[in-house]
Amino acid sequence: MALKVAIQMDPIESIDFDGDSTFVLGLEAEARGYSLFHYLAKDLSFRDGKVLARGRAMRLRHERGNHYTLGEPELRDLAEMDVVLMRQDPPFDMSYITATHILQHIHPKTLVVNNPVAVRNAPEKLYVTHFDGVMPPTLISSDMEAIKAFRAEHKDIILKPLFGNGGAGVFHLTPDDENLGSLLEMFTKLAREPVIVQRYLPEVRAGDKRIILIDGRPAGAVNRVPAKGEARSNMHVGGRPEKIGLTKREQEICEAIGPHLKREGLIFVGIDVIGDYLTEINVTSPTGIQQINRFDGVKLEAEIWDAIEAALSRRSMA
Ligand SMILES: Nc1ncnc2c1ncn2[C@@H]1O[C@H](COP(=O)(O)OP(=O)(O)O)[C@@H](O)[C@H]1O
Ligand SMILES: [Mg+2]
Repeated sequence: MALKVAIQMDPIESIDFDGDSTFVLGLEAEARGYSLFHYLAKDLSFRDGKVLARGRAMRLRHERGNHYTLGEPELRDLAEMDVVLMRQDPPFDMSYITATHILQHIHPKTLVVNNPVAVRNAPEKLYVTHFDGVMPPTLISSDMEAIKAFRAEHKDIILKPLFGNGGAGVFHLTPDDENLGSLLEMFTKLAREPVIVQRYLPEVRAGDKRIILIDGRPAGAVNRVPAKGEARSNMHVGGRPEKIGLTKREQEICEAIGPHLKREGLIFVGIDVIGDYLTEINVTSPTGIQQINRFDGVKLEAEIWDAIEAALSRRSMA
């Protein structure tokens, strides 16, 4: 297949050469002889039923300091593409929702990965609530009394913004902490959404595990161990990536959610597990491929493109 592929992503100039998952997806696309078109989320438009993007043709290579060539800026009709990779970073905000609505107009004739309708239905932390028996004890609420009661029951808690990402605004409150009231006031000033409160899982000291699912099947995992004196495992606040496999419980979690993800056209998903519990399902722009590739000697980007090609040929046979 010689596919035409548009990638909605961050500026290619400033990507993390050794960490960016979209970069290796692009490299694999090059290796397969696909043509690439790069555009930024802000350069997507809708006009008279057409989905347009101002971007540039792109070539990629695995050469540090010389990893891309971009063509002249041009406006393209995305309906002429075979595939659009929507690799837009969270937060899951109204700009995100808008992009899913626009891309929905060309999907599935142009295969948008992941399915923009399913993505819109699946904000990372809320999506988990739709699967039974996988979440840690959790409260989603703005009700101060309910939050206090939850804390009285669970003692040690984690407080986080419902639509946050990258560890921003995540607080660990030990039983003797006196800041809950003040924190909740601050949260309600910053956002109108309820907060998410969870029982603190001490197993997090051993890591927050990212598992990549491709077409609903676990394809690899990487552990992220929080730095000493830090509650958060996110890599950009010092979380250390570590080689790891899957436990029986984690395989069960994947079996519980995988078929659903596949049915929804969520081809490339990253889930996060702490101890025995699922805390996030990332369908927007999951990452971790490069780390898993290095630890496990695999090439997840090739498996992802295989899954996309399979989805395209299923579609053309239907
Ligand atoms: N219930 C919990 N128990 C212990 N630690 C948690 C819990 N929830 C989150 N954390 C810590 O906070 C970090 C960020 O929280 P997470 O839910 O992953 O939100 P984000 O979207 O900001 O990454 C996690 O990587 C983990 O280290
Ligand atoms: Mg996280």
